[in-house]
Amino acid sequence: MLMQVKNQPGPSRSDFPTDFIWGVATSAYQIEGAADIDGRGPSVWDTFCRQSGAIADGSDGRTVCDHYHRWPEDLALIEQLGVNAYRFSLSWPRVQPLGQGAWNEAGFAFYQRLIDALCARGIQVHLTLNHWDLPQALQDQGGWASRETCTHFVRYAQEVARRFGPQLTSLCTHNEPWVVSVLGHEQGIFAPGIRSRAVAMQVSHHLLLSHGMALKALREQGLACELGIVLNLSPIYPVSDRPEDVQKAQLDDGLIARWYLDPLYKGTYPADVWDHLGQDVPQVEAGDMALIAQPMDYLGVNYYTRGMASGGEPWDVHQGGQELTDMGWEVFPQGLTELLCRLHRDYPVKRLRVTENGAAFKDEVVNGEVDDERRVAYLQSHIAATQAARAQGAPVDAYFAWSLLDNFEWASGCAKRFGLIHVDFQTLQRTPKRSAQWLRQFLKG
Ligand code: GCO
Repeated sequence: MLMQVKNQPGPSRSDFPTDFIWGVATSAYQIEGAADIDGRGPSVWDTFCRQSGAIADGSDGRTVCDHYHRWPEDLALIEQLGVNAYRFSLSWPRVQPLGQGAWNEAGFAFYQRLIDALCARGIQVHLTLNHWDLPQALQDQGGWASRETCTHFVRYAQEVARRFGPQLTSLCTHNEPWVVSVLGHEQGIFAPGIRSRAVAMQVSHHLLLSHGMALKALREQGLACELGIVLNLSPIYPVSDRPEDVQKAQLDDGLIARWYLDPLYKGTYPADVWDHLGQDVPQVEAGDMALIAQPMDYLGVNYYTRGMASGGEPWDVHQGGQELTDMGWEVFPQGLTELLCRLHRDYPVKRLRVTENGAAFKDEVVNGEVDDERRVAYLQSHIAATQAARAQGAPVDAYFAWSLLDNFEWASGCAKRFGLIHVDFQTLQRTPKRSAQWLRQFLKG
């Protein structure tokens, strides 16, 4: 049943060009389930979820939304939203169980069905190669800390391009390399759960290197779709104008943003961060930096909140008196405008894409409906912030809402709901929330 959405002031689709890309985003491990089905190999997240205490509610991605079996229903929901694009990731261990050697045809067939169905409906395919679920077999050989993994990644990228290339609008190498390196290898709160800054920095270098190697190989192979990478970025504000806080904000920005952006766009690591890292700097071989700095067709930006810097660590969440989401993240739409304008100013970005933006709230189904008014307001204010950046000249051509479905929110488990569509994790029933109705009306114009 459709809910009546109150008239609210806000952005309108006609503020954007007609060819603007409007989409929803998901990732494989967070929605697919079917962990042991049709020959899929284990990923680092399957292993990590089994560590006691790793996942807040003890859940995992073995079944979650069971998108692997229910994808036709999910595709219908995507279509009903009226979006013209879908961003999702391929599970590497589903298509190559060991991360090297034999391909798994059943795994590829699943993605082929999905991609064919999207194309048949005129919905653009924006595919991510690595949304964190590295095959466990590669982790057993050192994972992203090993340079060999870059070579395996390139072969995987080439095989995906060979099969799906003509049907793709864009192909993204990695989603949020900072998260994989720092949360996965320095803090150890995400898979694979390692705690070493030196390892984390080596991992960050190999993620960037494998990105560059893949772009070069894919272009040589003649892949015509747009190629890029997706970073998690936020403007970082000092908590006060004391010099130490201002300096800390500069360093945190270096660790989270410039450490990735400078190599990608300038072919060098930022000197202040390099010095700060001391003995933990990565090993960089001759030619690596030039490889990393391949021209990109777009930069994907995942934005949720701003950062605040004080004496703490860059991943500490600070609260500056704004409304908070269920993740404890401040609602701060003006940060998105500022970020997009800064990227346009500081780097030669061809196109910017908001590849993830959304919020978790404690949603409940009441009489068959989910009245997530706060998510509607969040989406409205951030779409308006995207438009404000465009008005200031930032070349933004896409906005993807995170996420289509409530899903497995990594270490937070299934307790944090980001979906436009509610999922009952017992019955797997899908219920479009009011935000889904809002987006649909917004896109209708
Ligand atoms: C990400 C993550 C998503 C998260 C989302 C909310 O790319 O950060 O890709 O998988 O679910 O960001 O935390």
